Amino acid sequence: MQFTVAIDGPAAAGKGTISKAVAAHFGFAHLDTGLLYRAVGARVLGGDEAIFAAQSLAVSDLEQSNLRTNEVAHAASEIAVIPEVRAALLEFQRSFSARDGGAVLDGRDIGTVICPDADVKLFVTASAQVRAARRFQEFSQTGVETSLSEVLADVIARDKRDSERATAPLVAALDAVLIDTSDLTIEAATARAVAAIEAALQTQ
Ligand code: DC
Repeated sequence: MQFTVAIDGPAAAGKGTISKAVAAHFGFAHLDTGLLYRAVGARVLGGDEAIFAAQSLAVSDLEQSNLRTNEVAHAASEIAVIPEVRAALLEFQRSFSARDGGAVLDGRDIGTVICPDADVKLFVTASAQVRAARRFQEFSQTGVETSLSEVLADVIARDKRDSERATAPLVAALDAVLIDTSDLTIEAATARAVAAIEAALQTQ
């Protein structure tokens, strides 16, 4: 059975958590596509040219331990504006989505560009303030020194770059189900996603 769930949204809206939870719930494979852009960003910080890095991306690049840092997130957002970088990563994402047994892909352009025919599209969002507060808490717990205002400025800058780029900007697909997690618990947000997927599975 092929069944694709596309989950898009800005940074720290909760789409990663929701994606993992729904993939586990339905037994679908999960791809965090941001990791591909982060791996390219990390290679660029290491001195490689962006398009070359995207075209030669290897599994070992996805296993680097620094991919979750703010520095790499920033670099990822910068290389993500380059059309050739996006084109180089497209085929891998499409073949992942077409795998047997169901697939959940989360990112910025899954429902609009990578899988426009996805069976379910979700757009997971939250206010910039709520997202910055969540990120700040994560950083504090892992001992990263930063301030809430710095994290908020970074969230806003990344949203702007992701939404305003010419190629595959961050935008909800017209047929996406919107989930605003600003005032929702993880459980409540996941329950909405599960309900949307169950409804689509029933029409299969
Ligand atoms: O989801 P994330 O924070 O790991 O993504 C890091 C950056 O990668 C994000 O700022 C924009 C880019 N990205 C993208 O352009 N398209 C995707 N499908 C996923 C991520």
